[in-house]
Amino acid sequence: MTTVDVLLGTVREWIAGAGRLCVLTGAGMSAESGVPTFRDALTGLWARYDPQQLATEEGFRANPQLVWDWYALRRTGVSRAQPNLGHVAIAQWEAAHPGGLTLVTQNVDDLHQRAGSCEVICLHGAIFEDRWLDDCRRRARGEPSCDTQWARPGSPPRCGECGNPVRPGVVWFGEALPQHALAAAQRAAAECDVMLVVGTSGAVHPAAGLPVLARRAGARVAIVNPGPSEIDDAADVLLRGTAAELLPKLLG
Ligand code: OAD
Repeated sequence: MTTVDVLLGTVREWIAGAGRLCVLTGAGMSAESGVPTFRDALTGLWARYDPQQLATEEGFRANPQLVWDWYALRRTGVSRAQPNLGHVAIAQWEAAHPGGLTLVTQNVDDLHQRAGSCEVICLHGAIFEDRWLDDCRRRARGEPSCDTQWARPGSPPRCGECGNPVRPGVVWFGEALPQHALAAAQRAAAECDVMLVVGTSGAVHPAAGLPVLARRAGARVAIVNPGPSEIDDAADVLLRGTAAELLPKLLG
């Protein structure tokens, strides 16, 4: 038996005895589906592209077409990807233990949902959602906001009346997380018995603070990651392996 097998056995026992399981996922969760991570040395998006240019409001205002086209390419990549065995293992565990699992993700893809996970707390928004860059002027006049579906096609699509551009519904650097999602994630972290942290570098807060919150509240924390992360200190157990390899063994 290898060390990983022994540790897997331990974490499986914790999960079996847990009233509440919380799973926090990051980009590594979808890596085996072919969706690139952000910070892996050679393949990560931020190793090849400038996040200042592509993942900030200032970057979008400076060059909306470049940013829109980049997200359009990523949307295509995600729509061609399929959930992997890790996504499926989480969804199946949730189905077998109604009310026993809270899934919190930093991912903007929809692979958890397509694997069958019903309630996913999306901390960083959703890549397939559209929203206006600026508040709709109609809303300021007390009228219903224009629907982004009516936008004039383009790169980016724009409001036919005022030219307001459509932007992807993801959280960019410097922006606040959706308040209800963050509050629900913090509640889940504080109330769980076991937290599984899968495929995140732990570089981005407040998501990276959730395992610390869980541990302080008395939960056991296990990290599934083939490499080190910035939050390894918050874990009781480090499981060195990939999401698609280890999650079926942990949750199967
Ligand atoms: P990162 O790219 O920062 O980290 C990915 C992590 O996944 C690394 O620690 C890898 O070692 C690990 N990893 C790689 N392949 C894996 C596999 N097959 N199984 C398990 N783990 C694997 O991604 P995040 O931590 O998710 O923001 O990044 C956090 C946020 O930064 C993202 O949500 C994104 C980005 O800017 C937004 O999109 C708003």
